[in-house]
Amino acid sequence: MGFRKDFLWGGATAANQCEGAYSLDGRGLANVDLIPHGKDRKLVLTGQRKMYSFEEGQYYPAQTGIDMYHHFKEDIALFAEMGFKTYRMSIAWSRIFPNGDEELPNEEGLKFYDALFHECRKYDIEPLVTITHFDIPMHLVEAYGGWRNRKMIEFYKRLVTILFQRYKGIVKYWLTFNEINVMLHASFMGAGICYEQGEDRYKTIYTAAHHELVASAWATKIGHEIDPGNKIGCMLAAGTYYPLTCKPEDVLAAQKAGQKNFFFIDVQSRGVYPNYALKEFERNGFVIPFEEDDQRILKENTVDFISFSYYRSRCAAHDAIAEGDGILDSVKNPFLKTSDWGWDIDPLGLRITMNELYDRYQKPLFIVENGLGAKDVPDENGFVEDDYRIDYLRRHIEVMKETVEQDGVDLLGYTSWGPIDLVSAGTGEMSKRYGFIYVDRDDQGNGSLKRTKKKSFDWYKKVIATNGEDLS
Ligand code: BG6
Repeated sequence: MGFRKDFLWGGATAANQCEGAYSLDGRGLANVDLIPHGKDRKLVLTGQRKMYSFEEGQYYPAQTGIDMYHHFKEDIALFAEMGFKTYRMSIAWSRIFPNGDEELPNEEGLKFYDALFHECRKYDIEPLVTITHFDIPMHLVEAYGGWRNRKMIEFYKRLVTILFQRYKGIVKYWLTFNEINVMLHASFMGAGICYEQGEDRYKTIYTAAHHELVASAWATKIGHEIDPGNKIGCMLAAGTYYPLTCKPEDVLAAQKAGQKNFFFIDVQSRGVYPNYALKEFERNGFVIPFEEDDQRILKENTVDFISFSYYRSRCAAHDAIAEGDGILDSVKNPFLKTSDWGWDIDPLGLRITMNELYDRYQKPLFIVENGLGAKDVPDENGFVEDDYRIDYLRRHIEVMKETVEQDGVDLLGYTSWGPIDLVSAGTGEMSKRYGFIYVDRDDQGNGSLKRTKKKSFDWYKKVIATNGEDLS
């Protein structure tokens, strides 16, 4: 009983939120570099405000992140001390192809990840690699219009081919696109798209979605051809939609909201466009830009496993307005408490979400993000007693265990989000902290970058050492 013996415990980060060194060793500029902290952030990441160069008076947290580029040895050593079996990280596309459309990769960029993976392997940590976590070389945005352009599929194929070849035998677990469904709401962050005046946004974003889906299937094909041992997964920003009431109209609204998200991984996992989407496209006059072979490539190259992030459940109703941060909004659920940032806290929702995903796809699941963004206040020695974080994680891991034991869901692993404090994707803040390790850095980029273990560090170490048996 309990978790499988080879359960992959660990933590997850993304290049743009921690690496920094945005212009070092040949790295090209990326969309994520240009998303500022502060009031314009939401407008930029949702593609409503074009900011294609750095502007005076703005602060861009991805430029420096937590400078993991220079601290990765120290950081991975700390992960190893916690007993990590896996470390989920992402590749910065513009380190490998600075412009995105070159024929040959940037050797310096590849060397950086050689060294990082070497460090993981030194401690027997299995790397879990997200090929793109919200990042796109800016040249591809400016010269091609991001993922609205079909040429992106070729550039992505070039990227993945290099990665699969270079890291063959070193990396086995891959994710094609982080939270692919987020592109619907955060078009600049997820697809490199800023809408033009008068542009048909619906048509643009679903065209881009088709391109990402075909690119993802190609990656799965190329990855399996280069190494049949590769395990390639999709990645969903998950969290079941509850109906606000049992009124049938609310239940239908919740089901429809769920389908909007499932759409992407329905295609990645089943290999065909679901009927509910085809009908919606028909109603909206959108014709999927299928080209020869797309349907076959999608059908023959479905993912090996389903990965997802889970922070919260969501709620939908026929006639109530959803609110939130404009990304995955939700109607207020009156039964749940919220985090400092207003995110519902719902451990049981994880069981509901896991069952929903497992029933739907019958493929192994991997929880690749879960955690609590909270304000930490270090004491005079720099120590953070983050009992609130331990409590959040404990309650979620308990439920995850119940789901495996009582419902028989096949779960490969769990990587908590942000094992070390990093820049928030949504707000650009450092003060929204998730880590077991505190990083001395504030929202304006001040601080020594010193790493200090929090109370949760030893707690998570014990959880891993006991394979999730001791959560006290
Ligand atoms: C997920 C992303 O949406 O949630 C991460 O994959 C992100 O990149 C995480 O950091 C938490 O969200 P936030 O906005 O609190 O950083």
